[in-house]
Amino acid sequence: HTKYQPFPVIDKPDRRWPGQRIEKAPLWAAVDLRDGNQALIKPMSVAQKRTFFQMLVELGFKEIEVGFPSASQIDFDFCRVLIEEDLVPDDVHIQVLTQAREDLIARTFESLKGAKNAVVHIYNATSPTFREQVFNVDKDGCKAIAVRAAEWVRDYAAQQPETHWSFQYSPETFSATETDFAIEVIDAVNNVWRPDQGQRVIINLPATVEVSTPNVFADQVELVHENIQYRDDVIISVHTHDDRGCGVAAAEMAVMAGADRVEGTLLGNGERTGNMDLVTAGMNLYSQGIDPQIDFSRMKEIVALVEEITDIQTHPRHPYAGDLVFSAFSGSHQDAIRKCLSRYKEGDTWNVAYLPIDPADVGRRYEEVVRINSQSGKGGVAHVLERDFGIDLPRWLQQELAKVVQKDAEEDGGEITSESVHRRFNSDYLSV
Ligand code: KIV
Ligand code: ZN
Repeated sequence: HTKYQPFPVIDKPDRRWPGQRIEKAPLWAAVDLRDGNQALIKPMSVAQKRTFFQMLVELGFKEIEVGFPSASQIDFDFCRVLIEEDLVPDDVHIQVLTQAREDLIARTFESLKGAKNAVVHIYNATSPTFREQVFNVDKDGCKAIAVRAAEWVRDYAAQQPETHWSFQYSPETFSATETDFAIEVIDAVNNVWRPDQGQRVIINLPATVEVSTPNVFADQVELVHENIQYRDDVIISVHTHDDRGCGVAAAEMAVMAGADRVEGTLLGNGERTGNMDLVTAGMNLYSQGIDPQIDFSRMKEIVALVEEITDIQTHPRHPYAGDLVFSAFSGSHQDAIRKCLSRYKEGDTWNVAYLPIDPADVGRRYEEVVRINSQSGKGGVAHVLERDFGIDLPRWLQQELAKVVQKDAEEDGGEITSESVHRRFNSDYLSV
């Protein structure tokens, strides 16, 4: 679509990465039902997972991590419901996480019996902190855990040939791991799975805890992208968390550095500060004229459902989704918005001051944009009378009425509805 363009255009010939802009949407994987769920005070029931899953499918997600069935009976039951009630469209992969242990991998495959397309996702932590303090293994021991698990996954999958399997490996704590060691482990896993022989393989690189600036994470991803074996046959995925508040930025830079796929959650629920927010990442693309391949046009419904199921409220200033993100109270902002909106015509490139996207594109209304309080000016007062009552005031009257309304707002201390502005206009100027 041409409504939005990359902006601003920078002419910087020595730019580091040829793809300094993201040119197309990555493959998204929604991990709300696993990473998001495991961080909830009250984990989701089977029924809630089902509702959430259906929304993710409707929005357009093709890869959905549905749980950790070897660790949770609810997640096991949910997998069975999805498969037995045929709830998974043919083009959607369900994904499940499991630790790198044979009994758990066996149980995981049991949960997926009869699935059409499934991703079995194994992980083990590879960073020095985990090797030395949590698991007491050296590098070889750590690599051996991953390789053994990869072999079990390969062998169990061979016993269930009715399913089209994808295999996914995460070196958990990748961003805190020596990158050359991570590459060594990834190569060892891939030597078992052999993506070059047709096996669909995803190598997922987590910033399990965000420990650096996004450019450093992107450098790590780039090293993997440039150095692993079988690169052309492997899907490189990233899985960022938001501990430093940069989960989306880290994922975006990772895509520019070579990643093909991004894992995240709607509105960023997930462990601690949360996972990378799929809404922000997707809408960031949209606002640059790139189709995110996910439908965010009914944002209010997304927010309502996520809030209901997670019991976590969305911040009113959450990018693209918060209640207040398309509101302007201050006079100068209102004035600028009003002028731009009066010139904007359907089909034009969006070019409206203070509004990075057209609120209508996420199901919001222009009516919400200009709101009146004591900081509003003549532009705002004129705008609401014109918008809601079809009254077109001369400039001198806009100024006078704005002063009176501003006083009302100061006394009230809060927001003044357009009805109150209208009442004030009627009483002061029409009732003679
Ligand atoms: O954050 C993380 O490292 C994870 C992995 C299991 C992918 O959630
Ligand atoms: Zn995670």
